[in-house]
Amino acid sequence: MRSIVILTGAGISRESGLATFRDADGIWAKVRIEDVATPEAFRADPARVQGFYNARRRQLLDVAIQPNAGHRALARLEREWPGDLMLVTQNIDDLHERAGSRHVLHMHGELLKARCTACGRVVPVAEDLTPELVCAGCDSAGTLRPQVVWFGEMPLHMPEIEAALAQADLFVSIGTSGNVYPAAGFVADARRAGARTIELNLEPSEGASLFDEARYGPAGTLVPAFVDDLLRGDRTGPTAAPRRARGDSRPG
Ligand code: APR
Repeated sequence: MRSIVILTGAGISRESGLATFRDADGIWAKVRIEDVATPEAFRADPARVQGFYNARRRQLLDVAIQPNAGHRALARLEREWPGDLMLVTQNIDDLHERAGSRHVLHMHGELLKARCTACGRVVPVAEDLTPELVCAGCDSAGTLRPQVVWFGEMPLHMPEIEAALAQADLFVSIGTSGNVYPAAGFVADARRAGARTIELNLEPSEGASLFDEARYGPAGTLVPAFVDDLLRGDRTGPTAAPRRARGDSRPG
């Protein structure tokens, strides 16, 4: 058990006070994806899209929003795990980093960054994005958009993620409903590589049947216990042998 790939979703930030997307009180219950999270929406009404992300950025920067025990446990795992560990998140918040994780792949981008649509420069942003803001790279005004991957756009870091999944011994999915691809397909990629697959979530996700093992409950409780098991080398739990030796042609 050397190489681990972890995927997180909105569920790991729920106990920090950030809404998920598809729960009853989720973001998509209050606003339509088509209105705020597509390139077409941005072209049609940039102020509305900027307003949607400005509100979420302000909330994220509120002192009340802090990493939780789930984020901190994954940072501990990064520090103490002797093998390879890749942390991929669908989340655009910075709670993994603020909990101490140093290598986080944000496949859907980052709320605290902006990208200039004129020169492509990506810059940190902590204030509202408005049409008046000027890009420090090319002096264009009104060209800064959230560095967030919208529906219909290509997620970031995919070659690196796919290479890690092809070598994984263990794939752990935490706090995601398994509704959005390509992230929802990672468990199948990991299985094909012969990895053991584990889901930690409040409830079974769309892809629940594809996981070798599942633990259901709040991430703030599940993830620290899971990391304890992993680091203790608990042979019955997550560190049990991968489903099959790599290269074994028998069906999974
Ligand atoms: N602990 C663990 N899991 C939780 C918790 C919690 N405290 N609270 C909710 N969950 C689970 C829900 O049961 C759900 O399965 O987290 C999951 C959140 O699912 P979504 O709201 O669909 O969020 P996510 O899977 O991250 O969405 C993926 O969709 O809208 C796009 O770009 C957006 O990155 C997002 C992507």
